Amino acid sequence: KTIPLGLIDRYRDRLPIGADTPAVTLGEGSTPLIPLKRLGQPCQVYVKFEGLNPTGSFKDRGMTMAVTRAAELGAQAVICASTGNTSAAAAAYAARAGMQAFVLIPEGKIARGKLAQAVMHGARILQIRGNFDDGMSLVKEVAEQLPITIVNSVNPYRLQGQKTAAFEIIEALGQAPDVHCLPVGNAGNITAHWIGYTEATGCGTKACSFCEGDCGQLQAPMTDQRPTMVGYQANGSAPFLRGAPVAQPDTVATAIRIGNPQSWDAAHIVQAESGGWFDELSDQEILNTQRRLASEEGVFCEPASAASLAGALRDIESGRIAAGSTVVCTLTGHGLKDPDIAAEHVAGASETIDATLGAVEQALGASLDA
Ligand code: F0G
Repeated sequence: KTIPLGLIDRYRDRLPIGADTPAVTLGEGSTPLIPLKRLGQPCQVYVKFEGLNPTGSFKDRGMTMAVTRAAELGAQAVICASTGNTSAAAAAYAARAGMQAFVLIPEGKIARGKLAQAVMHGARILQIRGNFDDGMSLVKEVAEQLPITIVNSVNPYRLQGQKTAAFEIIEALGQAPDVHCLPVGNAGNITAHWIGYTEATGCGTKACSFCEGDCGQLQAPMTDQRPTMVGYQANGSAPFLRGAPVAQPDTVATAIRIGNPQSWDAAHIVQAESGGWFDELSDQEILNTQRRLASEEGVFCEPASAASLAGALRDIESGRIAAGSTVVCTLTGHGLKDPDIAAEHVAGASETIDATLGAVEQALGASLDA
């Protein structure tokens, strides 16, 4: 007996995939939408915790679709450039499908957990002396010349898989939120969400700039309105704020250390159609919010993910996001992806004591008094 597993089984009729195509799946999707209890007043903020996907990031949503399609076409190998999460997901789904994954990553600039995943899943890992944008150009050239399927978000199946996060949010809330905030790197995910929200309103009833009416999702509407989409970049990697590619992007949030987003035009269409905006955050704002979310709400995301909430909290406080709004922030990846950042953060948070009852009591007493 086969039990339903993953988002293709759940949303097959809203995805450009055949009725009988076997899904390459690890049970991705169906992540929790967690209402925050302490942060975000006077709005109700929810976090969509994509860190709970099989490889710990939202990339699994796109990868199940991209690798399912590649397998259907008989591909033997997949390739991607990555700041870490895409390489982890590509490696895992390729392993699942019995394919080889090749990943190009910027040397020394991906978080340790992500590298560990690519290694364990058996990817061929090429650390390049360059950044993500350099890797992206190379991968596009390679995929043109060799029989290898590119599984970056320029592969249209990636965004098709990622759009399902919007469906889940609508199902959980009963309607679309007023505002949806995301961290932006390549800008694929913000675009995918807009496709999802648009199709959920009943494709064909609202102009969808991406599907050209042939996406096959002529389904009953799930909602009648679409959210305002807001994207946040790190200020050292903020091409949308500069209005031009950034040659040497830098940020502690290595996942979004991207200077030349592949979905540049699409993201600006999303911004215009949704009435949203882009803004930037300092590394310190990102890290502070990552820690507050973990310590005040119990949710541990990676630094890049915290950019969505950091921006939302600032925009709620300033009134740019209206009081009383329902706000969803996507937490794109799990905090355990980047253990080094967390460990640096909490320097001084632990103390070493003797293994005696007296020493423990003394330590507890001191914190209870404090
Ligand atoms: N958050 C995380 C944790 C990411 O890994 C990424 C992208 C983003 C946000 C930005 O999403 O590119 O769709 O705007 N990571 C890619 C990678 C680039 O290679 O893992 P985007």
